[in-house]
Amino acid sequence: MRNKNVWLVTLGILLIIGVGIFSFQYENPDSDTADPEEGLQNESQEETNIEKQKNPNGNEHFSVQHTEYPGEVTPDFSPEELIEPPSGNWLTNGGNIYNGRYSPLSKIDTSNVSDLKAEWITSMGTGLKFKYSGEATPLVYDGVMFNVTGENHVAAIDAKTGEFIWEYKPKLPEGLDTLCCGWVNRGVALGDGKVFVGLLDARLVALDQKTGEVLWETVVDEWEKGYTITSAPLFYDGKVYTGIAGGEYGIRGYVAAYDANIGRQVWRTYTLPEPGAKGSETWPEDSENWLTGGAPVWQTPAVDPELGLIYFATGNTAPDLDGSNRKGDNLYTDSVMALNADTGDYEWHFQEVHHDIWDYDPANPVVLYDVKMNGETKKGIAQAGKTGWVYLLDRTNGKPLVGIEEKPVPQNKNQKTSPTQPFPIGDSFVPQEITEEDIERDLPKEFNGKFGNIFTPFWDEPVTVKPSPQGGANWPPSAYNPNTELFYVLGNDNYFSYAHYAEDEENKFEVGKEWLGSIWQPVEKSPSRGTVTAIDIKTNKIVWQNDWDTIAYSGILTTAGNLIFTGHNDGRIIAYDATNGEKVWQFKTDAGANAPPITYKVDGKQYISIFSAGNSLAGTQHGDKIYTFSLEGKYGSLEDIPEEDITVSPAKEEMDFNQGKQEDKNEVSVDEGLKVYENNCLSCHGAEGAGGHNGPNLQDLNMNKEQIIQQIKNGGGNMPGFEDGLTEEEIEAVTEYIRSLSEEEG
Ligand code: HEC
Repeated sequence: MRNKNVWLVTLGILLIIGVGIFSFQYENPDSDTADPEEGLQNESQEETNIEKQKNPNGNEHFSVQHTEYPGEVTPDFSPEELIEPPSGNWLTNGGNIYNGRYSPLSKIDTSNVSDLKAEWITSMGTGLKFKYSGEATPLVYDGVMFNVTGENHVAAIDAKTGEFIWEYKPKLPEGLDTLCCGWVNRGVALGDGKVFVGLLDARLVALDQKTGEVLWETVVDEWEKGYTITSAPLFYDGKVYTGIAGGEYGIRGYVAAYDANIGRQVWRTYTLPEPGAKGSETWPEDSENWLTGGAPVWQTPAVDPELGLIYFATGNTAPDLDGSNRKGDNLYTDSVMALNADTGDYEWHFQEVHHDIWDYDPANPVVLYDVKMNGETKKGIAQAGKTGWVYLLDRTNGKPLVGIEEKPVPQNKNQKTSPTQPFPIGDSFVPQEITEEDIERDLPKEFNGKFGNIFTPFWDEPVTVKPSPQGGANWPPSAYNPNTELFYVLGNDNYFSYAHYAEDEENKFEVGKEWLGSIWQPVEKSPSRGTVTAIDIKTNKIVWQNDWDTIAYSGILTTAGNLIFTGHNDGRIIAYDATNGEKVWQFKTDAGANAPPITYKVDGKQYISIFSAGNSLAGTQHGDKIYTFSLEGKYGSLEDIPEEDITVSPAKEEMDFNQGKQEDKNEVSVDEGLKVYENNCLSCHGAEGAGGHNGPNLQDLNMNKEQIIQQIKNGGGNMPGFEDGLTEEEIEAVTEYIRSLSEEEG
């Protein structure tokens, strides 16, 4: 009856503050247990949270210091310092608080980049199991690098040598299972002598920058209800900002700001308006959608200190794929938003997809840029959508800078589709339709079904469309280079089918359970492709584009050396000429290069670095290493690197305490199979074999036991083979588990 309590609490708040004054609700996170009036008062909120710091929820963690901290610790950065392009350090997830991932460093340039060699390689020692993904952008300050693995293990590393300084690893709760899309962490934040990390179980933790000791720990939310943290927090103006993930679990999204000193919540702004507030008219009246409608914020925000605004994009509507019970535009889902950074007050929003039924949420971090257009300097904000368009807006007011047209789109009564959708002027960076030629070339002869384009609705009859819910652009961050005035974006291009459940039963909201509302799946035996695209920021037109034969799932760094760097699923880190896209350098690492590269400088030397650790959704080879390159590096290829030259975490053994230790039991049981499934298959195939993000439904399999075993061993299509990764017993166990899914279905 949680919902009812929140209703009562909110009713209390509304009566006291008066309806309609605030467009968003400020609420004590504990409000469903608190007295209604307490929820309003800041003081009582302080007490609750300070209590939690003293006793950080009884959570165990591991932390160890190996060597003395060699550098200075971070100050309480001024806005001016955080707005500077990163010319030595890499201070925030996006390089600076504009999120542009542009560095003015130019020692490494198009003329000498071919001499770039690996200088040091460091093995983090965690996050190797298949369910983990390495998506972190490392940060660097005064010669020290900070990195985090999918297992939430944070390390401070000497940025010149790759040696470990300290390590921290939290114990994550047993049974944590509300992660739709792999166990990931996109990075830490730095400031005021602290390292901030958001944990998968929705805790926010501050570590001492010198020692890795826990300074404070705050429970942001309850993972059991589907709230998790995968994004890097942002440090700005003495506060730590974090959003929340969980759009697939029927959550109520928000961004919250915490006092960087003590972890007390300063404000929290929900992205779903309460009944009566501005935006609530875009939902059915008298519904509880405002409590379960999604709109998570799962990327690191950007800030414009001059305007005093914080910017981010919101995730999908819940349930993702069924619009039948949520007539209207469903604000503020799928939107770029601006709030007052001090107070969290709403400033403006721009919705990219009205009444989303395809999971086309803007997953890519927003990027701020300043550019002269028609003789006038414009303050821009760019967001690369899953739709395949870049949305270019004026960040002072949210109005289109290049032009975005509302156009009529195909309708479906059952889905209560929006009559129009926004179509940005300019080029899309991935295909948005399926042509006869595509069908002929890409799809198996036996595949027959209805095809559609972007915004084609679906109901009972399956429809296959492009782009897929993977995008377009997904989380892998884009970059903007002020010299080329080009915006660089990675795109995914694959075939996905959607259909509404025949049974209404499947469409019920249950707290903490995945809630898609319909079925989606990739088309079996169809190719996945990717694009690396440079877009003219003034016209939104493509200047150059490189096509890949896999999804592009890493992130982009651009530099004043006229370069861009990005990672490839096959393990390569690749450099292109920023002006024309010509490939100028590559190095193959030992795992999927599925995280964004960075650059930094220590003692006058420029380095390029990438955390190459593989990805469960992309199905790439897993690893745990940071590769750092320089013009004075020694190793031209992986084969040149002797095992003993790789720095290994000295605490590797001690840290191996999180769930999922390999147990060697002979007994084969469905329970064990479930464990293997959760660790290796769930992110793609979904809970209980349905609703996964990159694999077909496994509940009505037409395969015998031997065929299933062969599929698991060899993979195929976009599924990796597990012959080397799993034992015979584990393969047997997971096969039994999968067979049990179809039996239950009858
Ligand atoms: C990276 C995503 C991914 C992961 C991880 C993954 N799969 Fe798959 N799986 C797929 C895709 C995509 C297909 C369809 C393959 C094709 O195109 O033919 C598939 C197909 C299958 C099939 C055949 C389904 C059919 O109807 O033909 C089975 C069975 C299966 N997977 C089981 C598993 C098991 C068990 C695991 C874990 C050990 C696993 N998968 C891990 C993506 C994945």
